[in-house]
Amino acid sequence: MDFSVYLPTLLSLLSQCTAQWCYQSQYSCDDTCSDPIRWAAQFPSCGGLRQSPINIVTSKVHVNSALPPFEFIGYTNTINITVKNKGHSAHFTLPQSVRLTGGALPGQYRAAQFHFHWGGDGRPGSEHTIDGERFPMELHIVHIKEPYGCLAEAEHDMAGIALLAFLFEEAADDHPYLDTVIAALGRVQNNGSSTVIPNFRLSDILPSAKDLHRYYRYVGSMTTPGCEQAVAWTLFHRTLSISSRQLYAIAQQCRFWTGKPMTDIFRPTQPLDGRVVYQSKASGTLTSAVHLWYGVFSAVLGTTGLIH
Ligand SMILES: *[C@@H]1O[C@H](CO)[C@@H](O)[C@H](O)[C@H]1NC(C)=O
Ligand SMILES: *[C@@H]1O[C@H](CO)[C@@H](O)[C@H](O)[C@H]1NC(C)=O
Ligand SMILES: [Zn+2]
Repeated sequence: MDFSVYLPTLLSLLSQCTAQWCYQSQYSCDDTCSDPIRWAAQFPSCGGLRQSPINIVTSKVHVNSALPPFEFIGYTNTINITVKNKGHSAHFTLPQSVRLTGGALPGQYRAAQFHFHWGGDGRPGSEHTIDGERFPMELHIVHIKEPYGCLAEAEHDMAGIALLAFLFEEAADDHPYLDTVIAALGRVQNNGSSTVIPNFRLSDILPSAKDLHRYYRYVGSMTTPGCEQAVAWTLFHRTLSISSRQLYAIAQQCRFWTGKPMTDIFRPTQPLDGRVVYQSKASGTLTSAVHLWYGVFSAVLGTTGLIH
């Protein structure tokens, strides 16, 4: 038997099994990475029925009067945060003093990290779309439910992770605090490199809490492999603004683990598969709703028909 005939086939099969996952933008004929359509072959959850991101069809959302505002704890603290290039995106690590409760979430959550999804060269790069429209950029703040310590512990709880998502819209003026973020990304160009942003305040990059009463809620997944179906998603109506200069700059800073420019880092939208997207009702008298959180959340989850 001539093994030299079989060896290349065998090697290519092996490399398919262990291929690094990648975004569509990274895939090319001479790159064997696993692009989003192939994620499920390696990470079965990515082919599940509660995947994210999704397209939100505003005419089909269900308005729910029992989705109260959030309580953002530690968001105004001045903190030193570590930024690390993870090969597919850059993560900004948050300390445990940053927490989240309210919003009909079933418990207390501790912040873990935040990160952005962007396009490149003027192309939009949000993960969620609204009525088919993709926005320039999206911010995700990841929180883990107590007492879980990490995603692996939370992944069997369908609300184990609370993800807050903010869409960016292009504006004439610079976002006053994003240049710090852009500069930090410039210091973590390559996979594995890290830096610190001293004296950072999460609230500086966000709208004020009083403008965050209106949001969409649905149950979904992480948007990168393993696509764990453990996420209570919140997408705020209120957008953040970013200038075209900043938008251009932010996608220029980092490189993927392959060395290519880190652009178009978003997963394509996934089917709703019978899920319902809820929308909170803008209202001032929400105190009594807080006591209903359990009922609401089980209604929000239960009507999807996916809780047993
Ligand atoms: C941030 O880092 C600086 C310099 O290392 C240090 O003096 C300061 O105490 C740190 N702040 C916090 C909130 O940890
Ligand atoms: C990216 O860097 C991390 C260390 O931070 C390393 O574990 C990983 O293997 C690297 N990925 C690639 C594809 O080189
Ligand atoms: Zn994300």
